[in-house]
Amino acid sequence: MYKAAVITVSDRCACGERPDEGGPLVARALKEAGYEVVKTQIVPDEKEQIERALCEIADAREAELIVTTGGTGFAPRDITPEATTAVCDKLCPGIPEAMRYASMQITKRAMLSRSQAGIRKGSLIINLPGSPKAARENLEAVLSALDHGLKMLEGKPSDCAKIKD
Ligand code: MTE
Repeated sequence: MYKAAVITVSDRCACGERPDEGGPLVARALKEAGYEVVKTQIVPDEKEQIERALCEIADAREAELIVTTGGTGFAPRDITPEATTAVCDKLCPGIPEAMRYASMQITKRAMLSRSQAGIRKGSLIINLPGSPKAARENLEAVLSALDHGLKMLEGKPSDCAKIKD
């Protein structure tokens, strides 16, 4: 069972102005998919705080999968993709490409998410948009392939030929 952490990035949730719906929804979806959710956290749209939260989890090997929700759009304070890119050793462009491709079948506004994904040490970091609906739809688009990616990240022998999905 892989461990997962969920970070909600939102100024309004961080100061208690709005309840966090996206984070719990993402945590629930990950649990249903078989992940052990070891940490949930809310941080404001501040690049340094997002970077710190990502690094703390990845560097302490707290979770193999780190999912953020929020801060991927065009609003002046949206900065999650830049914070993610700054802390990653490698980028995984196929993951946001797949999320946007699947989401474009639902809404043309999917192209407005600047979500990023990448690897820091042994952790895979994936950005989701902030609205609970968008977060769920984007996560659903990639969830089934993540297990195979996490196995490769661990250095476990992978048998790509057997993968049907
Ligand atoms: N993706 C899906 N699947 N469904 C959605 O409703 N909303 C879009 C986009 N991606 C959406 C989606 C919208 S309206 C925006 S502005 C961006 O995600 C960025 O959202 P964020 O700023 O909350 O991260």
